[in-house]
Amino acid sequence: LNFSSDNSYGVADEIMAAVVAANRGAAVSYGGDDWSTRVSARFAELFEHEVEVFLVPTGTAANALSVATLTPAHGAVFCHAESHIHLEECGACEFYALGARLVPVGGFAGRMTVPGLKAALARYPGIRHDLVPSALSLTQSTECGTVYPVDEIAALAGLAHENGLGVHMDGARFANAAAALGHAPADITWRAGIDILSFGATKNGAIAAEAVIVFDRARGRDLFHRRKRGGLLVSKTRFLAAQLEAYLADDLWLRLASHANAMAARLATGLASLPAVRLAWPVEANEVFPVLPCALAAKLRKSGAVFHDWTASGLAGTEHAPSPDECLVRMVTSFRTEAGDIDALIAAARRLAGGN
Ligand SMILES: Cc1ncc(COP(=O)(O)O)c(C=O)c1O
Repeated sequence: LNFSSDNSYGVADEIMAAVVAANRGAAVSYGGDDWSTRVSARFAELFEHEVEVFLVPTGTAANALSVATLTPAHGAVFCHAESHIHLEECGACEFYALGARLVPVGGFAGRMTVPGLKAALARYPGIRHDLVPSALSLTQSTECGTVYPVDEIAALAGLAHENGLGVHMDGARFANAAAALGHAPADITWRAGIDILSFGATKNGAIAAEAVIVFDRARGRDLFHRRKRGGLLVSKTRFLAAQLEAYLADDLWLRLASHANAMAARLATGLASLPAVRLAWPVEANEVFPVLPCALAAKLRKSGAVFHDWTASGLAGTEHAPSPDECLVRMVTSFRTEAGDIDALIAAARRLAGGN
């Protein structure tokens, strides 16, 4: 019963097969291979837009390169207070952006709001000695398992552009958001104002493959050199490209994500039916954040369930905050999570919480 991470479940068979199939003969290294050419063309088709595509092995790399290209070293980059770039990337964005500052913005359930962003921007009026507001980074789906509706992305990106900022989307779980929203990828990215997207695949069935997708070339500068200088150009790029080619073929990426989302919905419904458990935020993608008695969490772990404790500064002082004997935990479903595992977890929780 492993709900620790969507990274825990290995690799989709189609992707593993594509990597094995790519392991024949010689190919041009450093991205000059046929797989890379084909996958760039496929991304252009998928997003209905000319794109520049830079393949990298990790989501942190995709985010750090994307953010660094949107801001000068003296820039301010606005992101959600719970965002991965702010809390969990060891300062990679600031490092690659040569010291630019991430400015955390609050907002319920991982989503920034227009008034929240306006207030944050107002603190950086561009007076002589301030940092210069330079970029906005939105995460889709969010770190709280929610999904920005298209109009909210458009409103936030519109405000950012009005203020001269470039807009990045951390799409480590872009597939889960796209599957949940059901809109064309173009509608939830560049048509809504996204300039650069970190398009994730690793969490949704790849071995290690992420793509920086640049929609606005004028804003995404020097990525070719930034990637190499950052030590992130993989010499045998054909294997990254082969993963992504298989991922995009026949909508595999959406099928895998839809399954993960459906499993999360099943888990959320089951957990919410237990009187001892409540959900911190709505479940809209593949992450579930139950608040439950710490004693029940401990018993579930003892019975074999695996999940992480979680903290969320945004919950403090709200009606959603855990009481002293309650714990907030994170349960993540994946492309390979089985319905039987979810049902077993719910049955165990019901039994251990003293229900029947
Ligand atoms: C929202 C989000 N962005 C980016 C990343 C970074 O991915 P990686 O661990 O591949 O660097 C993660 C990984 O947990 C994530 O959850």
